[in-house]
Amino acid sequence: MIYADHNATSPLDPIAWAEMRPFFEGRFHNPSSPYTAARAAALAISDARRRVAALLDAEEEEVRFTSGGTESNSWALHIARAWNPERRHWICSAVEHASILEPLAALEQEGHRVTLLPVDRNGQLDMETLAHALTPDTALVSVMSANNETGILHPVAEIARMARSRGVPTHTDATQSVGRMPISFRALGVDLMTCCAHKMHGPKGVGALVARVGIDCAPLFRGGGQEGGQRAGTENVPAIVGFGRAAEQAYISSSERLSVLRAIVEDGVRARIPQAILVGAEADRIPNSSLFLIPGLDTDVVLAALDMAGVCASSGSACASGSSEPSHVLRAMGWLDGEKRAAVRISWGRFSTEQDANDLVNILSRIVLEIQVHERPPR
Ligand SMILES: Cc1ncc(COP(=O)(O)O)c(C=O)c1O
Repeated sequence: MIYADHNATSPLDPIAWAEMRPFFEGRFHNPSSPYTAARAAALAISDARRRVAALLDAEEEEVRFTSGGTESNSWALHIARAWNPERRHWICSAVEHASILEPLAALEQEGHRVTLLPVDRNGQLDMETLAHALTPDTALVSVMSANNETGILHPVAEIARMARSRGVPTHTDATQSVGRMPISFRALGVDLMTCCAHKMHGPKGVGALVARVGIDCAPLFRGGGQEGGQRAGTENVPAIVGFGRAAEQAYISSSERLSVLRAIVEDGVRARIPQAILVGAEADRIPNSSLFLIPGLDTDVVLAALDMAGVCASSGSACASGSSEPSHVLRAMGWLDGEKRAAVRISWGRFSTEQDANDLVNILSRIVLEIQVHERPPR
């Protein structure tokens, strides 16, 4: 099997699993309990916080553990709302993940205004539009670091500088870039940043919201005093431990290695399927992802044929699969223009090999040829 869908999720690093396992077994204690055995769990959380903070170039006290990217995104919006309850305008890119777009749509239902920043065919945001959209009523600008469907990177540091100069806080959803390329919370200059473990060979169901020192984080969940009283609920100790270890392992995951796999696929597809369009070819992208549009073919047919051939790949957001809705990302980029094109996203991880990338090119080009021959009308 070739697993080429790391933007959906990635396999758990066995080293992280080995470190997690004792916390499912003998070291099961509640980190808030007063006895010595429980102190090991509390220490393991501190250790994980130190490792995650190191990966993100953030202070330990800036890292709050959550259940993942979705919760961190919702919490970021909740915090921004509590900072400036009188502000009723929100800005995000038109290509954000559903976990930003949907809560903002709910705010719109409550009478708030939402500006979706447009992108061009290469996925680039128009900074002029952002400059015009910022008002004293803007509660938050939220722009993802890398898009999950295309891998295209956004100029988050520049956006944060512009917003800050206008007194508007910023958030970035860095779920897809953390662990795949160096990310510095400090250098980005945002107030809030989302990340999660399962895209970087950590366990599912754990992530973090990073909040700049001194920021008042209105709790999303109230209850016990966990996470400094800001995120109530008994900590998911094994998952947090696995996240910490995966964060440490991510240092080994060199962007250069992922770029080599991406180049094998992109060069191979260019040579063997010349009609395929590489989305965001002109844009900076995370090093592990390529999204191809193959003219004249049906997405479901190509993905099913890849599946039959033992290749796990998808068309884009895993959260949207199963729904027949076309991709809002491709729509925002102007690619849904009535032409039939199969969307195939290939995304690699630390355990992917050059053999995987070469085999994928062979299989995909064979499949495209076979479908074309099969669908060609008889003479
Ligand atoms: C950009 C982005 N943000 C947020 C999420 C949601 O993360 P989680 O699955 O940890 O809730 C995803 C997951 O695919 C994502 O790609």
